Amino acid sequence: MTPTKIRVGIVGAGLIAPIHAAGFQELPDQVEVVAVCDTNRENAENLATMFDAKIYSDYQALIDDPQVDLVDLLLPHHLHYAAAMAVIEARKHLLLEKPVAVTYQQSLEIYAAAQKAGIHFGVAENTRFIRAYLEAEKIIRSGKLGGINLVRTFLPANERMRLSSDDFWGKQAACGGGTLIDSGPHTFYLLKWLFGEIQELAAFTSQLYHVDSEVEDNADVRGRLVCGADFLSSFTFTAEVPHSERLEVYGTTGSLIVDQLVNPPVKFYAEPVDFDGSPVEGVDYDPMGWHYFSIVEEVKDFVRTVSAGLPPTVDPLDCCYAIKVIEKAYESVRNGNVLLQV
Ligand SMILES: NC(=O)c1ccc[n+]([C@@H]2O[C@H](COP(=O)([O-])OP(=O)(O)OC[C@H]3O[C@@H](n4cnc5c(N)ncnc54)[C@H](O)[C@@H]3O)[C@@H](O)[C@H]2O)c1
Repeated sequence: MTPTKIRVGIVGAGLIAPIHAAGFQELPDQVEVVAVCDTNRENAENLATMFDAKIYSDYQALIDDPQVDLVDLLLPHHLHYAAAMAVIEARKHLLLEKPVAVTYQQSLEIYAAAQKAGIHFGVAENTRFIRAYLEAEKIIRSGKLGGINLVRTFLPANERMRLSSDDFWGKQAACGGGTLIDSGPHTFYLLKWLFGEIQELAAFTSQLYHVDSEVEDNADVRGRLVCGADFLSSFTFTAEVPHSERLEVYGTTGSLIVDQLVNPPVKFYAEPVDFDGSPVEGVDYDPMGWHYFSIVEEVKDFVRTVSAGLPPTVDPLDCCYAIKVIEKAYESVRNGNVLLQV
């Protein structure tokens, strides 16, 4: 017997949509994209032609379409909550791009509503599928680094063009902030996944780019993890480098450095005079592809787990937790960079 395919509707046909689409295309026996929605007709048409899909301009109409079983929400941040709740109300499965929502409260409400409705709910958090981090996880869990003393992360990107555009980027009311709410979901998911919860933090932000932008474009969050290690997470929207990610883990018996712009991207250092370090096997130098492939994998993981009736690999509660951390960081900034318990 041929298994029934999951019928997908994609809402939001902007920058990230073709990568999600590529993920669905890689599982032609399990899934088909039947509908696309965007208020921008051209964006909707460009995406729909990849699948010969129906086109909607109103997301509620797509959600109500009886031909749609699963909705993939790729909307601007401020629309996540209302659109996600509408999908859950219609009892369709939901894959939702990060950030879950612009507040922790809204994130938890989405999670609770999804649980109550009994639908499959996943957050599109590609961090969990980045090859370098999967290899880093093995080394960290093996105990090879000893006790972890310090973790540092850095997410540089250049969003100057988007920050000055007329759409939601750079608008405080639409995004709920700048680089912290946009890149923070990845970093604070990563910390939660690899090291556990954060005990306390203080945050610092600045805005270098003022033309049409209302939001912070640089941020540092530092503090202590419950496991005892210190952490420092930096974010920038104003770096003249390709979008990248860096993770440094310093332990008592060795250290690990991940940098997507360096070849090889993952190295283990055994001691202070180990100048060369040892490349970690299994991670190719792919500064253009690492991000794309991790998103394709994240989409495929969600489809596979829905088909199998299993929970997604990325626990949505960990993504909600990341929003809690971001909210605390903004609270710290508002109160003069004070140290706050998380
Ligand atoms: N995982 C990642 O690394 C990653 C990367 C980029 C974006 N994202 C996330 O994906 C989401 C979308 O980002 P993007 O870069 O594709 O943004 P984008 O601005 O390129 O696209 C958003 C699309 O939504 C459409 N839209 C706006 N309001 C709408 C409405 N009411 N109904 C239907 N369509 C509407 C816009 O016309 C646009 O085509 C964001 O939440 C972002 O955080 C994640």
